Amino acid sequence: MRICIYNASGVKCKTHMELYELYRDSCDTGAVVSKSTTLLERNGNPGPIYYENPHVGMSINSSGLPNRGYQYYIDFAKTLKTNASNLYLRKKPYFVSISGMSLADNIRMAKYTKTDTEFLDGIELNLSCPNIIGKPQIGYDFVAMEEMIRKVREEISNEILFGLKLPPYFDISHYESAGAIINEFKVDTLTCINSLGNGLMVDPYSESVVIRPKNGYGGIGGSVIKSIALANVHYFYKHTKSEIIGCGGITKGLDAFEHILCGAKAVQLGTIVMIEGLDAFTRIKNELIAVMKEKKYTSIEDFRGKLKYFD
Ligand code: DHB
Repeated sequence: MRICIYNASGVKCKTHMELYELYRDSCDTGAVVSKSTTLLERNGNPGPIYYENPHVGMSINSSGLPNRGYQYYIDFAKTLKTNASNLYLRKKPYFVSISGMSLADNIRMAKYTKTDTEFLDGIELNLSCPNIIGKPQIGYDFVAMEEMIRKVREEISNEILFGLKLPPYFDISHYESAGAIINEFKVDTLTCINSLGNGLMVDPYSESVVIRPKNGYGGIGGSVIKSIALANVHYFYKHTKSEIIGCGGITKGLDAFEHILCGAKAVQLGTIVMIEGLDAFTRIKNELIAVMKEKKYTSIEDFRGKLKYFD
């Protein structure tokens, strides 16, 4: 059974070594996505930038886009592709997440994809990084979002998948505005959702914030965001032409099942992989298979999107 479970961008996917670990046959990922990249290398925010509370399955992050620059993430795929002994590795799709510091930078990276189609299966254009000081999330500015999608879509190779990583929406009018913009374009995939931006975790014992940047404000992930993720997955499944990739709050197979029931075609794991390591992919895959067996489903298409409502 092919079940697509893979990493959420940002989670253990910044260096070639980390990407390779995710890509190996022994790692139960069905695809791999890179850390969000800018055109040029960045150091990101000063630490501590990440904190987790495993008891409640919750995390906060504010890395500030530390990454090695676009070319480094293409070079990873080139190395795999040209290394004959790694032939078996090339079965997994590889996506690069792009999150340029400006529209112009995203356009530059989009243009580059035309020469990289041999190595690259797709781009996940990140419209929802909450951690750059002075830079609001594009996905909450519908005018900027429309322009961003239009101009990047124009430049990206048609031979690869074009996806968007969306922030969580909360108000129905915002779902509608975002959905209407997305439907203007050929958008192959929507990853719903990025972390809940600008949350605050507090340590009552030290009476302090738990991360340094922005006086402790950062992106919240983990089981606490699952219901928001499911709502976004389901809305965009119902109201757009794109395939949905569910992300947010998946800590067990049943959570992945819920995402698929709401319409997700694949799911990404974030906080749980930070807490448990790469074995989380295998555990959650096996748990999902067990749930499906119990319910006598042989394929995710037997239940995908078939969430029931009251009359
Ligand atoms: C970062 C966080 C995000 O949620 C994201 O989408 C991209 C980058 C970060 O802080 O590095």
